[in-house]
Amino acid sequence: MTSTTKIAIFASGSGSNAINIYNYLISKGSNIKIDCIITNNAKADIINKAKSLNIETILFDNLTFLNPSKLIDFLLDRGIQFIVLAGFLRHIHEDLINIFPQRIINIHPSLLPKYGGKGMYGIKVHEAVIKDKEEFSGITIHLVNKEYDKGQILYQEKVKVSKEDTALSLAKKILEVEHKNFPLVIEQYIQSYKEI
Ligand code: GRF
Repeated sequence: MTSTTKIAIFASGSGSNAINIYNYLISKGSNIKIDCIITNNAKADIINKAKSLNIETILFDNLTFLNPSKLIDFLLDRGIQFIVLAGFLRHIHEDLINIFPQRIINIHPSLLPKYGGKGMYGIKVHEAVIKDKEEFSGITIHLVNKEYDKGQILYQEKVKVSKEDTALSLAKKILEVEHKNFPLVIEQYIQSYKEI
């Protein structure tokens, strides 16, 4: 792959994955470039973090994600080729999926299909895993299709849940595994997609 590939990262909160992906791509001198970060949350920590790295962040209100024509126009105008959802807490509208088929990648902090679907996000996932006394949780990186959390799985990795784990300690362990793997999976997927 020689030409530049522009990606947009969607993030709603702390944005540690977004920053980690940015650092990885920069350190590798990758031709996959983060063009911008899209957020729905004016108070998201990612806004200041991105600013300090000179990454443009654009805020769209929640209504735009329900009726995304403005967002779609924006992404197409910018020449965005892939979207990465990294801690993004809004539903992805079908119209956006149709414009970017097989080109939206999400990370979910459990071993899907377990602990996925509506209402299962963030700390709620880890609370449910702890409540059920699961022996393992983990991460799932998958493509986004019209069925919530059911798109093609690109990568999964197990994380052992210890007896001492709380939802918070498990979230921390899982986030580390996300950071280790998400940039690599994104890079490999985009490269293989472009080679087809
Ligand atoms: C991650 O665990 C992600 O899987 C989940 O929310 C967390 C986001 O973390 N959807 P961050 O915003 O990237 O720090």
